Amino acid sequence: MASWSRRDVLKSGVALPTLGLLPAELLPAQTSASHTVRERLCLDAGWRFHFGHATDATKDFGYNSGRNGSFQKTGNFLPAAALPFDDTGWTDVDLPHDWVISLPFKNDPSLSSKGFYPIGRSYPENSVGWYRRVFTLAKDDAGKRISIEFDGVYREALVVFNGYYIGRHRGGYDPFRYDVTDFMKPGEPNVLLLRVDATESDGWFYEGAGIYRHTWLVKTAPVHVAQWGTFVRSTVEGRKANLQIRTEVENNAGASKAVRVTSTVIDPSGKTVGKVTSKPMAVPDGETGTFEQQVSVNDVALWSLEERNLYRLVTEVDADGVAMDRYETRFGIRTLRFDANEGFFLNGKSVKIKGTCNHQDHAGLGVALPDAAQRFRVKTLQEVGCNAYRSAHNPPTSELLDACDEMGMLFLDETRMMSSNPEGIAQFENLIRRDRNHPSVFMWNMGNEEREATTETGLHILSTMKRSAIKLDGSRPVTVAPPPLGMGLGQGGLMVSDVIGYNYTDPQIEAFHKTHPTLPCLGTENVSAVATRGAYAIDEANGAVSSYDPYTTSGRASAEGWWRFVNTRPWMSGGFVWTGFDYRGEPSPFQWPNINSEYGFLDTCGFPKDTYFYYQAWWTAKPVLHIFPHWNWPDFVGKEIAVWAHSNMDEVELLQDGTSLGRQRVPKDSHLQWIVTYKQGTLEARGFKAGKQVMSTKRETTGKAAKLAIRVDRTEMDADGADLVFVVAEVHDAEGRVLPVTDNEISFNVSGPARVKGTGNGNPVSHEPDTGSSRKAFAGMCMGIVQATRESGNVVIEITSPGLEPASATVTSRVVKERPEVVVWKREVPAGEGVTGLWRPVLQDGPSGPDPLQLAVSGDTLYTFIQRGSVLTGSIDAPPAMFGPATTGAVQGTVEGGRVHFTSGSTTYDGGVTGDRMELHRTMPPRGGQPARAAETGAHPVIGPPPDGSDPSLGLGRRGAGTQPALILQRAKR
Ligand code: GAL
Repeated sequence: MASWSRRDVLKSGVALPTLGLLPAELLPAQTSASHTVRERLCLDAGWRFHFGHATDATKDFGYNSGRNGSFQKTGNFLPAAALPFDDTGWTDVDLPHDWVISLPFKNDPSLSSKGFYPIGRSYPENSVGWYRRVFTLAKDDAGKRISIEFDGVYREALVVFNGYYIGRHRGGYDPFRYDVTDFMKPGEPNVLLLRVDATESDGWFYEGAGIYRHTWLVKTAPVHVAQWGTFVRSTVEGRKANLQIRTEVENNAGASKAVRVTSTVIDPSGKTVGKVTSKPMAVPDGETGTFEQQVSVNDVALWSLEERNLYRLVTEVDADGVAMDRYETRFGIRTLRFDANEGFFLNGKSVKIKGTCNHQDHAGLGVALPDAAQRFRVKTLQEVGCNAYRSAHNPPTSELLDACDEMGMLFLDETRMMSSNPEGIAQFENLIRRDRNHPSVFMWNMGNEEREATTETGLHILSTMKRSAIKLDGSRPVTVAPPPLGMGLGQGGLMVSDVIGYNYTDPQIEAFHKTHPTLPCLGTENVSAVATRGAYAIDEANGAVSSYDPYTTSGRASAEGWWRFVNTRPWMSGGFVWTGFDYRGEPSPFQWPNINSEYGFLDTCGFPKDTYFYYQAWWTAKPVLHIFPHWNWPDFVGKEIAVWAHSNMDEVELLQDGTSLGRQRVPKDSHLQWIVTYKQGTLEARGFKAGKQVMSTKRETTGKAAKLAIRVDRTEMDADGADLVFVVAEVHDAEGRVLPVTDNEISFNVSGPARVKGTGNGNPVSHEPDTGSSRKAFAGMCMGIVQATRESGNVVIEITSPGLEPASATVTSRVVKERPEVVVWKREVPAGEGVTGLWRPVLQDGPSGPDPLQLAVSGDTLYTFIQRGSVLTGSIDAPPAMFGPATTGAVQGTVEGGRVHFTSGSTTYDGGVTGDRMELHRTMPPRGGQPARAAETGAHPVIGPPPDGSDPSLGLGRRGAGTQPALILQRAKR
């Protein structure tokens, strides 16, 4: 691809004016040449990873220690940042990557909120991770702007590129980008190095650690659309939409440019429905120009939960008549309105918000979710009728928002740090700029349960934050999730909210509504009800909590109590259940051995608990009939058991072994109960609509475990190295009934182009590793997550368990057009006779430990030898030193028998080779610029200058020409 040059601009013949609009006639009518070099390349594959250490520099690659440590000079940050660095001991990882799920659990009460994974200040050995990625930039990348974008790194990322310290980013959820143009090496391998420090933490829940979201390499022309630099705002009148398009264009061309923006609007069917070109505007070098344009769209196809119409804005930028950029923005057109009396309206239609709060981790994956997992989670929530997602308590990854846009889910977008300090404002502004084109995003959430939100200071903070939301968006309301239980409702900064949120306790919001009848209200967090899938009694040793929804009117702990409150009040816009999915950390009500929360109506795998069916009955129109508990109670024969039904039928009849126990009307938004005397057998529920039986369901006492059953969420996946299939394994009796209480160990065996990525079972006291390929069943089920490789073909997933009949499923992994990505650079290992190959020094201890000079310089020097007959050639690649850049020196010499002799630069090497080991003696000329003073001859005084003429300032032992300690080389693989 052609690169931009200053000449191109000069060729266009346009005088460069000062800031201001240029008359259109000054510009060529059409752009002359295309320099739209923009590329966004995925940088996920091919990283190398190694643990560092938060307190011990010797285990942290020497970071920030010693004279040649990190920040002293530009360009030689650490040997690990140099190309010859030996990363043999590092492991291959692809992003997204969360190193915490591979750590063994630890019973340390201070780790409770993190799910008892040993991370943080007391575990320095687990809290720092190093990532290294080498890639080649093309020769014609010279002249382009090169940036690296990180979607999320937990938690403090230190970025080094080609040995240059680039920056440090704090905040585990906030995307960040570095322009590395000045530091790039076109036509050569470039080294990206990150030190990720998760010692400090953000939340009170599991947060993982590492580069756990995507990373991208972005190439643009010097004049280009800024990051997140487009924004389409719309107003709708009848069938027509008016779009206000804002575009920010950065100029790094080295001179002022006459910039013009053409905005083309493409409808969901691919038809161009609007196009507008701006007048040219002078954008000075190093500055950003903002363009405002208007486009009208007739017969608008609105985005809604049912019809996910998505438009595209194509932004074309030319500078002095030369095309510079082409950038696409996906957006949707819809209207939002909150009404104090009637709740929330989407496109003028009343929609009750049936939301769930969710953290971002999933069983088997930690927080490193491939995109397919985002879609799986959204789909799982939609099946229960959930129409809104709150990313508690942090900015989400963009792919989750993409899934919500495409699948029809509203999104309450939350920042992590409620603050107007520079870090807090930057996080919030990044969130808005990045997410403002997503039609699913309906409101900005500025904070969660912050006591300060209710104070005078909170008023200042939140007012400043709101100002950012208005400046950067202005089309959505803001809210704040207030402290729980009505604390401070209506006070301080909470009143900055356009929509008044509340966390729990419905009576307080009702009272508030009475006194503030003009303010719209929404439950920002509701129903912290705990339940364990398949458990019907409290069992502390196993972390189990009963699945009967404890009806209360407080709204804190009952699904039914809360939803009946919400659904009977038109002014209440809806709310967000805490939570959809269980998450690691914050175990409640029990602590160790319980490692995860149990608030979800889905467990950590996404398996439904009983309350799921309550929501599904009242949140969807599909017929639901679910009864519980299970019917295996050998210890309770003759005892009474409460049997509940969650159903949206008009009436439900329960039968025990064919005998009716009564038919009951189902109260709206409620459940049914029968008290049944237990005996082994069958419970059957029949559901009636308008007097007619339309469905039935059974719970039967099962026999012994006999076989396995398998279900896959898809039968096709993409052979892109990332896609996932979620595999459900169930333990059945001979009749094909799921055993409700069993813990058989199940192995997931994959043949064909895929691998087991992780497993889970939702058991809150399971300490099995998530990254293995077998798992115990919990309440009859467990999950395997299978990931595609990059080869296509049939994947057979077989599940086995001792003594049980196995089961298998076949999934086709099909060829797909992979997203453009950055190719992994690999060092070539020369093959050939004798000593041909790569060699690396073995560090030698001097009299007082490792030789510091060797450590700093030669430790990561790479020797490449090529032997042809007795002729030796090759090179020596040394990393940069404090006052010197990285060097490559040619090798010339001989190998005869076991003797090796060569020179490189002014150093001579002599020695022998035995197998994969070489011992060399180096002879080098005197160091320092001045020739050594001639040695004194004749008698010299006892006190006086050094008689040998050497210079003590060069260090003892290295004062002049001489012999260095022996250099031991060993054959290396990389
Ligand atoms: C809320 C809080 C959540 C979670 C929940 C547990 O008060 O916002 O993050 O901790 O309590 O009940």
